[in-house]
Amino acid sequence: MRTLVLLLAALALAGCDQNMEIQPKYGEYAKAPLFRSSSARNPPAGAMARDALARQQEATQRPPLTAGLLDRGRQRFAIFCSPCHGAGGDGNGIIVQRGMPHPTSYHDPRLVAADDQHFFDVISDGYGAMYSYASRVPPRDRWAIVAYIRALQLSRRASLDDVPPGQRARLEAMP
Ligand code: HEC
Repeated sequence: MRTLVLLLAALALAGCDQNMEIQPKYGEYAKAPLFRSSSARNPPAGAMARDALARQQEATQRPPLTAGLLDRGRQRFAIFCSPCHGAGGDGNGIIVQRGMPHPTSYHDPRLVAADDQHFFDVISDGYGAMYSYASRVPPRDRWAIVAYIRALQLSRRASLDDVPPGQRARLEAMP
């Protein structure tokens, strides 16, 4: 008798799992006759995300170049870009070593000559095989990364004459 009760309880409880799994509903992107298109609806014309204006403003107003901004750029670059572009920007990051196409080195004369906006746009929109980072890197951080890439480029091209006189003496005194 006890076994029977347990068995019936187990059967009854097994039914509980079905709660919302079995009900009339659309799957993602399923054909939706009601809308005569997909069940994933487009936002109405003119609708925009709550922070879209603020982001747009950030994109057009470049933050001032400070040590803090550069440091932020260094961090973001290490997280989002170095896996492919490598820590030095040569384009031989770990993902490229595993088969991703080799991007042009940041030290290539074409990219040294490219303006800052080009780098900002590549992060925002992607470029060829590289996908967009717009959803992961907010505009202010894009500018920070651009500043850091400029520093990376300069690190291989700067001459002693670029060092301000005050710091030059200190540099020359180094062993
Ligand atoms: C998953 C790998 C990957 C990551 C991560 C990545 N990139 Fe790229 N990137 C590429 C590839 C591949 C190319 C070359 C695309 C092509 O030429 O088709 C490229 C090209 C570029 C270029 C060169 C565009 C030109 O004019 O040749 C720039 C600049 C760039 N990436 C910046 C960035 C920045 C900044 C980040 C980080 C926010 C980043 N990338 C993250 C793979 C990546």
